[in-house]
Amino acid sequence: MLSIQNLSKTYPNGTKALNNVTLEINKGMFGLLGPNGAGKSTLMRTISTLQIADSGSIEFDGIDVFDQPEELRKVLGYLPQDFGVYPKVSAEMMLNHIAKIKGIHHKSDRKTYVADLLQKVNLYKFRKRNLGDFSGGMRQRFGIAQALIGNPKLIIVDEPTAGLDPLERNRFHNLLSELGEDAVVILSTHIVDDVVNLCSNMAVFNQGAISVQGHPQELASSLDGKVYRKTITKNEVEKYQSEYMVLSNYLHNGKMNVNVFSDFAPGEGFELINNDLEDFYFYSINQPQIVL
Ligand SMILES: Nc1ncnc2c1ncn2[C@@H]1O[C@H](COP(=O)(O)OP(=O)(O)O)[C@@H](O)[C@H]1O
Ligand SMILES: [Mg+2]
Repeated sequence: MLSIQNLSKTYPNGTKALNNVTLEINKGMFGLLGPNGAGKSTLMRTISTLQIADSGSIEFDGIDVFDQPEELRKVLGYLPQDFGVYPKVSAEMMLNHIAKIKGIHHKSDRKTYVADLLQKVNLYKFRKRNLGDFSGGMRQRFGIAQALIGNPKLIIVDEPTAGLDPLERNRFHNLLSELGEDAVVILSTHIVDDVVNLCSNMAVFNQGAISVQGHPQELASSLDGKVYRKTITKNEVEKYQSEYMVLSNYLHNGKMNVNVFSDFAPGEGFELINNDLEDFYFYSINQPQIVL
């Protein structure tokens, strides 16, 4: 459905944000997982027709995105990372306004449409409240509502869960999980759990390039039998980093743990663990090229 070919972009200051990105994305929820600065927002904005690349092409459902940006916009729903709202406008008024712009001309149709949308994102109760008084989670749910106007076939959400508390994130996950069936949905995130919970396909994106693509579960299992954990002291972290391929170090019940990738048992004190997508993610962003 969405076909991205050899996309490259270097900003005027010399930052190479996209380095020959090629990606095929089908219906359903696709996770683009990568650290800050990887180039995710650059890619999302480029697909959304807000900026153009230096080279390469993007095609969606027969639309050439660079040649026919207006056509793409008709089928696009986009929630940008830095989603700003007019603070003194109510959710209902804003959605009504956007729906009007998007061509829902009949007033009573529009009223029903906006009410349905507010129900869907669980904000109907707060429809009269000004957007400036919304919590982070409510604001993101409003962001989804505005992105859904016009029944888009391509939905792009850029880091929608960053900054949400666990409860809000959970609620937002439930909302996102309903989007994936009839549309191509791209979720960009640096949060591994977003992908685990929601996505049937994913890519790890790092330093402007796709390092690997596949099913989250299969990618995670590709490291089975090769991830070991050891409890160490805090000041040993550097020593382990120099001796082993440390995927992550983290505190657990106040004790420092390291997760290490190794083809064989690394020795005293290490135990083989049930590795997960997070281990794979850290593994893949440490590898310039992955061969599975
Ligand atoms: N308008 C811009 N001008 C110059 N550099 C930019 C601009 N936007 C992003 N960058 C740089 O491009 C790289 C990728 O940024 P971005 O696409 O925002 O990544 P991500 O969304 O994954 O954090 C970063 O190094 C960032 O500093
Ligand atoms: Mg970003």
